[in-house]
Amino acid sequence: MATYLITGIAGFIGSSLARAALAQCDQVRGIDNFSTGKPANIAEILDDIDFREADVLDLDALQDACRGVDYVLHQAAIPSVPRSVAKPLESNRANVDGTVNVLVAARDQKVKRVVYAASSSAYGDTPTLPKHEGMIPNPISPYAVAKLASEYYMTSFYRCYGLETVSLRYFNIFGPRQDPSSPYSGVLAKFITQMLAGEQPTIFGDGKQSRDFTFIDNAVQANLLACKAPAASAAGRVFNVATGRRIDLNETFQTLKKLINYAGDVKYGPERSGDVKHSLADLSRAQESLGYNPTVDFEEGLRRTIEWYRRKEKAAET
Ligand code: UD1
Repeated sequence: MATYLITGIAGFIGSSLARAALAQCDQVRGIDNFSTGKPANIAEILDDIDFREADVLDLDALQDACRGVDYVLHQAAIPSVPRSVAKPLESNRANVDGTVNVLVAARDQKVKRVVYAASSSAYGDTPTLPKHEGMIPNPISPYAVAKLASEYYMTSFYRCYGLETVSLRYFNIFGPRQDPSSPYSGVLAKFITQMLAGEQPTIFGDGKQSRDFTFIDNAVQANLLACKAPAASAAGRVFNVATGRRIDLNETFQTLKKLINYAGDVKYGPERSGDVKHSLADLSRAQESLGYNPTVDFEEGLRRTIEWYRRKEKAAET
């Protein structure tokens, strides 16, 4: 039985990881400051986890939380490209200083391995598709820079202190519990809930931008594998976590329209500053070194996500 510390445990990804670790009968400790995470995401599992309300900027709380832990899954972050464009200092504090604090505490408490939620945004507008980890990064937004800086810190802690680290570059993760309510929410959470409510979604730009949207179960699988993979093939390294297929936003809207049975149309707004045009992952490194293989494809992921929001809506009505 292993003990995990999940930072950002009340977030959509953190709370999914907690459920998966509990399902394996592992012990779960978690911290969250509820800046973007929601108490509702962990309400059902609160009795089964050791939860502490704390910020990743609080080094003492982290030292305490890392005591006796085998693996840290570091998910705490302030996400969103446009939010970082509006508030670069906030992004840097949470996404860079927060990560260095996690690494210092994990090193001091002799944690076995830290797995980090890195981001596909690090690739930026590199024209080559698919994006592979050997490419020189080209981040556009402050968010992308912060996520990339943290990756470098991860590798640096492996090289300088021998702390085993693995960075997983997430490609647009979506699924149940993703918060749809903020203007900075992920596009699929927004579109699905808007369309279920009969509201009209907005595509920023011409809708020809494409993403390698990745269902949450695939990201969970990658994290669990990253903890157990041999150090020789995983430690100090960076891996893409994606589906390996890209779809543009116009087509995404059409797919959702069919699945939801939505009668309306989409509207178009101005392109977003800092936006990446195309994103698609090469998965060979993750396959070879971690044994990662996405098990839920895009459409199946959408079906499950739509179903979850539908059930949530019904529960709220009764
Ligand atoms: C980026 C990262 C992603 C990371 C996320 C964290 C890339 C390629 N991806 O996602 O890995 O997890 O940040 O926040 O950099 N859009 C609309 N209408 C809306 C909302 C969004 O058209 O109402 C468009 C955006 O302009 C963008 C696309 O949908 O082109 C996806 O946006 P979003 O879901 O916010 O994620 P990224 O910024 O791609």
